[in-house]
Amino acid sequence: MQKAKINDVELFWVEAGSGNNILLLLHGFPLDHTMWLGQVQYFSQRGWRVIAPDHRGYGQSSFNPAEHIHHVELMARDAAGLLEHLGIEKAVVMGLSMGGYVAFSLYQHYPQKVRALILADTKAEPDAPVARENRYKLREMVGQKGSQAARDVMLPVMFSPETHAKFSPLVSNLQTVMDGTRPETIIATLPGLAERPDRIPDLPHIAVPVLVIHGEKDQLMPVEFARQMAKAIPGGRFSEVPGAGHMANLENPDFFNRAVEDFLNGL
Ligand code: MLT
Repeated sequence: MQKAKINDVELFWVEAGSGNNILLLLHGFPLDHTMWLGQVQYFSQRGWRVIAPDHRGYGQSSFNPAEHIHHVELMARDAAGLLEHLGIEKAVVMGLSMGGYVAFSLYQHYPQKVRALILADTKAEPDAPVARENRYKLREMVGQKGSQAARDVMLPVMFSPETHAKFSPLVSNLQTVMDGTRPETIIATLPGLAERPDRIPDLPHIAVPVLVIHGEKDQLMPVEFARQMAKAIPGGRFSEVPGAGHMANLENPDFFNRAVEDFLNGL
C-alpha cells in the first residue's frame, strides 16, 4: 500500500507482483480499489505487476475541494501521473464502468502509455439527456442526504438479479464501500460523468489490442451495447461473462480472470 503526491492530491494505490508487464486497474463509481483485490492477487501470481489506485477523493486518496468537477480526463491525468511517478512507460489498462471511461481518456491523452485496453462493463456512448438530468438530481440528493442517497440508486443495479436474490456478501461489501465514499467526491464526480465525452467516434481509431468484457446480466449497461462496441474497434475482442451483472469481476471471477488472462497471454 502506497501513497504519493500526484498532481494536486495524495493518491493511494495497492501494488503486487513485479516485472515489466504492468496491469493498471481503474475502479468504478462510487467505489475504490478494493473491487479489484481478487484481480490484484490473481494476476500478480501470473507474472504481472498489478497496480490498483483509488481515484482522487475515493478510498484512501485525498480530495482537493478546489476541483469542483472530477472530469474523467482529470482522473486519467492522475492515472498517467501515477505511472510517471512509478517510472512505468506502458501499461495494460483495465477499467470497469467509470474506470473504462477513464481508460478511454487515458488512451486519448496519453496513448504512448497504453499497451492494451480492457474495457469491462463500460460503454462508449455519452449520457442521454434523461440520464444526465438524473445525475444532477442525484447530486442534489447526495448533498442533502449523504452518500447513502447514491447507494440507494446504484446498489440495486450493480449486480445481477440472481446475485441480489442470494443476499451475497458481495452486495453488503459493496454497500459498505459506497457508504464510506465521501459525499463531496460523489458530488464532484457526477457532473464529470454527465459531461464525459462521446467515445463512439473514437472506436474505429483505437490502435492497441482491446478486450471488451461484460456481464451477461448487467442491468446498468446492456451486454448488447458492449458487443457492438467491440465490433466497432479494429480487432476488438469480446467476452460475455456468464451469469454476471455489472460487477462481472466480482460475480464470476473465475470466468473473468481466465478471459482476461487469455487476452493478456496473446499480447
Ligand atoms: C460505474 O459503475 O462506474 C457507474 O455506474 C458508471 C456510470 O454511472 O456511468
